[in-house]
Amino acid sequence: AEVTMDKIVSLCKRRGFIFQSSEIYGGLSGAYDYGPMGVELKNNIRDFWWKEMTQLHDDIVGLDASILMHPRVWEASGHVSNFTDPMVDCKQCKSRFRADQIDLSAPCPVCGTKGSFTEPRNFNLMFQSHIGANTDSSSVVYLRPETAQGIYVDFKNVVQSSRVKVPFGIAQIGKSFRNEITTKNFIFRSCEFEQMEMQFFCKPGTEDEWFPYWRGQRMDFYIRMGIRPESLRWHQHGPDELAFYAKDAYDIQFLFPMGWQELEGVHSRTDYDLSQHQTFSGKDQSYLDPETNDRYIPYVVETSAGLTRNVLMALSDAYDEEEIAPGDVRTVLHFHPAIAPVKVAVLPLVKKDGLDEYAQKLEKELREDYTVFFDRSGAIGRRYRRQDEIGTPYCVTVDYQTLEDNTVTLRFRDSMEQVRVPVAGIAARIKQEMKD
Ligand code: GAP
Repeated sequence: AEVTMDKIVSLCKRRGFIFQSSEIYGGLSGAYDYGPMGVELKNNIRDFWWKEMTQLHDDIVGLDASILMHPRVWEASGHVSNFTDPMVDCKQCKSRFRADQIDLSAPCPVCGTKGSFTEPRNFNLMFQSHIGANTDSSSVVYLRPETAQGIYVDFKNVVQSSRVKVPFGIAQIGKSFRNEITTKNFIFRSCEFEQMEMQFFCKPGTEDEWFPYWRGQRMDFYIRMGIRPESLRWHQHGPDELAFYAKDAYDIQFLFPMGWQELEGVHSRTDYDLSQHQTFSGKDQSYLDPETNDRYIPYVVETSAGLTRNVLMALSDAYDEEEIAPGDVRTVLHFHPAIAPVKVAVLPLVKKDGLDEYAQKLEKELREDYTVFFDRSGAIGRRYRRQDEIGTPYCVTVDYQTLEDNTVTLRFRDSMEQVRVPVAGIAARIKQEMKD
């Protein structure tokens, strides 16, 4: 069956993945809450990325910079003057549109009034606030629209404190904010979102080696996360899409329910940002190569992924409706076990005769290693389906035979196969299954 955004939105609400922010007040558009399942999924993707970028790459270190930064950062980066979208308002109903996304000669798509649009004007996407008691221009602060600038501004601090040598990278995960004019397609484009970014600093002239290397690494990452290769592709930026300082840029696109869209950008950014910060701060941003004694401002290859957009990708890729018998359709999320919100469900067949107590003991043991869901209510078949819908890869069922021979039923989400296994060593068995 076709995977539509409506089906994903409905499953997300029904099973506690994602809710509209402030829903009881009518909702706030462009903002979302990650429920009990959603936060686990998001944290798992986050941890998968962090492990990949820091633990498995010994030439990358981590950083957690603050969201609020000195306003000059955003002047240096070009965001104050350039981070804009062309916008029009409908004079009649006050709806707001991106001028490049609608036909200005057509009636307003919301109220149908003809010729009601204002002239297009540039609209800066940064949220502005004030720090301290004054609200004049001297106290302006912005919510960061990308995490990358925190990395640039701390480049020297990291070099001086961490014994890193160029080439090396700095990785960061955190919230970013953009006052997006159109926020449709659920969490795909929101005003508050999370990014997973890595800036790789290299010697000028070597960027053309690192750029394809990082493109390869980033695509492999999604394949290892279990994403179907046919749903991923590259899109190279044409001359009209390329930022003026960028040497080259490719997007990894994913086939979302609404079509192919950007998931992550891999950019060859030259020494633009560090040079800008040197000019604006007056602080030297060059690097002295200890081996060659060369002094230079490093070039940067950036990998920039949306974490919340990754959540939507994971849900879209995993969602399936399978007809397992005539007229019997199960909804299932085929997550890779590493990112599944719940790894194991423990299900006592019945509550009585000591089965519940046995299952609780087992649950407690498994909780040491896994996120576990304990479910004692309803027919066993229905309980399996509930786990399928949240993408739990393994179910362990305790029944009467368990009391006799200490074996349990291990049920697999994707194949729905059930095997009888000894309860001793079940945690290790699951670990093995997750690896295979
Ligand atoms: N530092 C470079 C940078 O921020 P970008 O292409 O503007 O580049 C990178 O953003 C990634 O961040 C995108 O590929 C997307 O996954 C995510 N992203 C950007 N804007 C977003 C939004 N409004 N909502 C959700 N994710 C967004």
